[in-house]
Parts: sequence; structure tokens; C-alpha cells
Amino acid sequence: MAPIDVVIIGGSFAGLHIAHSVLRDVPDAKVVLINPSTSFYWNIAAPRIVTKPKAFRPEQYLLPIKDAFAGYRPDAFELLPGVATAIDTAAKSVSVTPNEGEPKTLSYDYLVIASGSTTSATTGSLTGTSIPFKQSGHNDMEQLIESAQEHIAGAKEIVIGGAGPIGVELAGELAEAVEQSGNAGKVSITIVSATEHVLPMLKPSASSAARKLLEQKKVKVVTSKRVIGVETPADDSSTWTVSLEGGDKLSADLYIPTTGVTPNNSFIPAQFLDKDGWVTVNNEMRVQSTDGSTLPIFAAGDITNNSMRLSFKATEQAHVAAANLKAAIVGGTAIKTYDQGENIIMIVPVGESGGTGQLFGFVPFSFMVKMLKGKHFFIDKAAGALAGKA
Ligand SMILES: Cc1cc2nc3c(=O)[nH]c(=O)nc-3n(C[C@H](O)[C@H](O)[C@H](O)COP(=O)(O)OP(=O)(O)OC[C@H]3O[C@@H](n4cnc5c(N)ncnc54)[C@H](O)[C@@H]3O)c2cc1C
Ligand SMILES: *[C@@H]1O[C@H](CO)[C@@H](O)[C@H](O)[C@H]1NC(C)=O
Ligand SMILES: *[C@@H]1O[C@H](CO)[C@@H](O)[C@H](O)[C@H]1NC(C)=O
Repeated sequence: MAPIDVVIIGGSFAGLHIAHSVLRDVPDAKVVLINPSTSFYWNIAAPRIVTKPKAFRPEQYLLPIKDAFAGYRPDAFELLPGVATAIDTAAKSVSVTPNEGEPKTLSYDYLVIASGSTTSATTGSLTGTSIPFKQSGHNDMEQLIESAQEHIAGAKEIVIGGAGPIGVELAGELAEAVEQSGNAGKVSITIVSATEHVLPMLKPSASSAARKLLEQKKVKVVTSKRVIGVETPADDSSTWTVSLEGGDKLSADLYIPTTGVTPNNSFIPAQFLDKDGWVTVNNEMRVQSTDGSTLPIFAAGDITNNSMRLSFKATEQAHVAAANLKAAIVGGTAIKTYDQGENIIMIVPVGESGGTGQLFGFVPFSFMVKMLKGKHFFIDKAAGALAGKA
């Protein structure tokens, strides 16, 4: 029997989980996983990785994808390093530009879209400096991270745009890195929040705890001011003027935006996207066609229109997508569904010694944040996520 071709676009939390699940349970499947980087990036620890080069070793946060699939039949799995550039739903094929060699076209019986999201700091679109909070579109993560680390270590006036979890974690790590390198007082760090609070999505007591911890670390906290522009004089790319709503201006030699995520959707047919560019899926994680027909296409993780874009939510979605994909292939009927729910689970370290967050209705004590996440940013979970065991 010819194998069943399953093509998965994106090798991160969602795509990796689905690849393993199919390989484990569908003996005649052939899985091709397309991803530009040959390693999986534990981006959860990015705020510490980019600010404290010695906190972790690269092999702890950049893990070779291929190694995690060595246990399957060699002809059942292929990692194709490259990017998907188009999907032809009529022909059931995906166009791919591999990192090496000529563009090619892959046929699929089933397709999984797990291309996730990116951030403007990652692409460097605003300032020309990439601070890689996510995987890039190339096989260059190690160099990107090194150059971000150097850039940050050399900066004297740093402005962080946005005071959500990434901005707050980053500010805390930066302040600590400055202190640890003996540069206290020589580097200024400012975090700018568009709203009245930092961490505005959490309970007020979490917001005030974060603000207090940041101020103890000498981070300047500017609230109720949106960043409306970031400019550099044409003749000097090392000084930036960050303009705030209301007319204030901050000068910076490094500006790091931390708000907003954008979908990696350039290759996805417009009919599958909602108005903000996310892939519309039903609660079975099936991509929705415009004419109501059932497509052999699933999606999971940040790329879908489920609004909680968190790694453990990507994994939960992957569980559901994988179960339904397998049921579609082998003819089972045990359909699973996903509902992101309304509970807020967020742990936000502010440096190594503490932090805040929200677990359901409860704001954890600072020492709990240290124990749960502040010490290691869950880095020891990276291998499990890559192995599809999360
Ligand atoms: C700094 C930071 C810290 C975070 N911390 C936490 C945290 O503490 N807890 C938490 O739950 N969540 C956290 N998140 C969110 C978490 O990173 C995401 O929810 C998670 O990465 C989503 O996983 P995913 O598999 O859907 O997609 P992504 O991780 O976005 O991966 C998508 C993959 O698809 C690849 N890809 C994209 N386009 C193509 C293409 N055309 N062809 C081939 N491959 C493609 C990309 O290269 C990438 O490897 C954090 C995010 C950031 C930015
Ligand atoms: C994700 O999209 C951004 C642009 O929105 C792009 O710069 C980046 O290369 C994409 N990543 C991948 C892996 O394709
Ligand atoms: C995603 O889009 C689909 C199709 O429009 C819709 O049925 C579904 O409710 C949306 N999901 C969420 C979480 O809004």
C-alpha cells in the first residue's frame, strides 16, 4: 500500500507534537516536517537567553530536531529544512523552498498548518536589530541569538516598548544582567506601557507586584503612554528617538518592541484566514473551507484563530488536532474538541529571585514564581516538547 502522506508546516510546539503522534500511531504514514531552522528553539527562555549569555548553554535551548525522530522507521519521517511558500488545495500540494537546492512541490493526503507567529523584535522590522523571541525564517538561530546578546550587552540606554509578560520578563532580566556585570548605574532601562498598569491583563495585585519589583531593580516604568514612533537620524543608526503619545520623547541606543504577534501566513490561501490573518479552525482544529466542504487540513497553535497564543495552549490544540487527524486517517470516530476556556495561567518572573503572575484567580507569591519558573524558565522541558511528550 502506498504510504499516507502527511505534510506538517512548522516544527515547534504544535507541529512537533503532531508529527510524533502520527508516527507513533499510524504505521503507514509518511510524515514530512517543513521548518526553516534545523533546531527547535526553547523561546520561553528568550528573555534570559538574550540578556544573560552564560545562563544557559546553546544546546539547552537550540535542540536538533532530527535527533528526536531517530527512533522511527527512516522512511516514515523526513525533516525538510526550508519554508512552505504556497498551498494548492485543489492539487493537494505544498510548494517549498528548501534551505538548499531547488524549489519543489510535495503532495499531501493530509496537511497540518502549524506555522505559528512572529514578533517585530524577532524580525527586526522596526530597528534593523533582531532580538529573536521566536524562530526566524532561516536556519540562523545561533548567530541571531549571539548577535542579539552582543547588542544588548553593549547598550547603555534601553527602551522596552510594551509591558505585557514578555516586556516585564525582559526588563527584569536586563536589570539583573546589568547588575551582575557590574554596570549598575551606567545603563538605563525604561519600560513603556500603553495602559495605566504593567501586565494589564492580570489582576491588579499582580500588576502592582510587577511594578514594585521592576522599580526595586531600578527600571523606569512609564505608564499610560503608547509608543507612537521610533526614529533614527539617517546618518547615525545607533541613537533612536522613541516618541510617546502626548509628546514625550525618549532617547535610546536600543529599542526593543515586545507587543503584538503577527501570523506566519504568507503561504496560506486567503480563504482560510480571518480578518486579522489567523487561520480559522473549528473546535476539532479543522481548517474551515468557505463552501462548507470538509478539507483534509488541520491547524494548531499560534497560527489559529484561538486567541490564547501560549505554548501550552499550542500543545493542547496539537493533542486535539492529532487525535482527529489520526481518526480521519484510520477511520476512527473518537473526535476530540478544543475550547481554550477563560482561565488565566501566566507566570511572570522578574529576574531570578521572584516575580508574579496569575494562576486561575490566584496571584502567586514571589517565591513561588521563583521556584516554578524564575530559576530556569522551564528549560528542562525543552527536550520533552521536542520529543512530543509535553
Ligand atoms: C519571548 C516569548 C516568551 C514566551 N513565553 C511563554 C511562556 O512562558 N509560556 C507560554 O505558554 N507561552 C509563551 N510564549 C508563547 C509561545 O512561544 C507560543 O505560544 C508558541 O511558540 C506557539 O507554538 P507554535 O508551535 O504554535 O508556533 P511557533 O512556536 O510560532 O512556531 C512556528 C514554527 O513554524 C515555522 N514556520 C513558520 N512559517 C513557516 C513556513 N512558511 N514554512 C515552514 N515553517 C514555517 C517557524 O519557523 C516556527 O518554527 C512566549 C512567546 C514569546 C515570544
Ligand atoms: C514569519 O513571518 C515573518 C513576517 O511576518 C517573516 O519575517 C518570517 O521570516 C516568518 N517566519 C518563517 C519561519 O517563515
Ligand atoms: C474561529 O473561526 C471559526 C470559523 O469562522 C469560528 O467558527 C470559531 O468560533 C473561531 N474560533 C474562535 C475561538 O473564535
